[in-house]
Amino acid sequence: MSPIISVVNVSKTYASGFRALDCIDLDIQAGEIFALLGPNGAGKTTLIGLICGIVNLGEGRVTVAGHDIVGDYRAVREMIGLVPQELTTDAFETVWATVSFSRGLFGKRPAPAHIEKTLRALSLWDKKDSKIMTLSGGMKRRVMIAKALSHEPRVLFLDEPTAGVDVALRKDMWAMVRALRESGVTIVLTTHYIEEAEDMADRVGVISQGRIILVEDKVTLMRKLGKKQLILQLQSPLAQVPPDLAAYGLTLNADGTELTHVYDPRDAQGAVAALLDDLHRAGIRLKDLQTTQSSLEDIFVSLVKESR
Ligand SMILES: Nc1ncnc2c1ncn2[C@@H]1O[C@H](COP(=O)(O)OP(=O)(O)O)[C@@H](O)[C@H]1O
Ligand SMILES: [Mg+2]
Repeated sequence: MSPIISVVNVSKTYASGFRALDCIDLDIQAGEIFALLGPNGAGKTTLIGLICGIVNLGEGRVTVAGHDIVGDYRAVREMIGLVPQELTTDAFETVWATVSFSRGLFGKRPAPAHIEKTLRALSLWDKKDSKIMTLSGGMKRRVMIAKALSHEPRVLFLDEPTAGVDVALRKDMWAMVRALRESGVTIVLTTHYIEEAEDMADRVGVISQGRIILVEDKVTLMRKLGKKQLILQLQSPLAQVPPDLAAYGLTLNADGTELTHVYDPRDAQGAVAALLDDLHRAGIRLKDLQTTQSSLEDIFVSLVKESR
């Protein structure tokens, strides 16, 4: 599959002299949900703005469906929809008018059926004649999404779509984004909520201080990260891990009082019970035990720390 977006060796230095992006290489595949995950200030909005032509490209090259974003700006603009991080809406317009107007900005013919379908999908249909200023924050954000979809883009960018959105609405929004993907739209979203990347994305990219530090299939990432640790405190210290227990890959701490077993809870059916039996059989008595689970959050924090 060829990528629908290709970012090659892109760097961006703002007029202030601040280097917000540093040698970014990234491919987005057609039809995927890609989550760009990173702490505040990492460069997420800059990267998205740059692909969408809102931030001037510094160095490097970006293509969307083969079109160069600088040389072929109009073709690119028509293919993409952007829901910006900051909400900007025309308070006095109705939902229907503002979304229809957005479509017109792209030089597309009016398509009431498409606008209706979009508003229905976003649960905004019964608000179509309401003035935007009368809507709740969550509804306003959905209006922004409707605007971004008004011209039937092939790629939708969502910059922190659920920042400040309550949990219930967040779930609705995720369902809607999945439905969009089903209809063939490629989705790129940025978030600093790990949970969001975990729930939604096919692939995850982690960005920190203007550099992409990891791009991974989500399932692989979760498998790598979703390890559990079993810590066994021993009644009497050991000089070494007994050879009979070598298969468990145990590690012994420096003073011999603690054994640690790291395992994947998904493929370790009964392994912990077997380990405890074997320890008992080997005459090793426990004082206490604990399990800890590395969350995506832990991994994310350690990844970001390592990259500094
Ligand atoms: N117009 C600008 N001029 C100078 N620095 C900027 C500008 N916009 C953003 N930055 C800086 O670039 C860095 C990345 O910002 P941004 O892309 O908004 O990060 P994120 O979206 O990941 O929070 C931040 O340190 C921010 O202060
Ligand atoms: Mg941002």
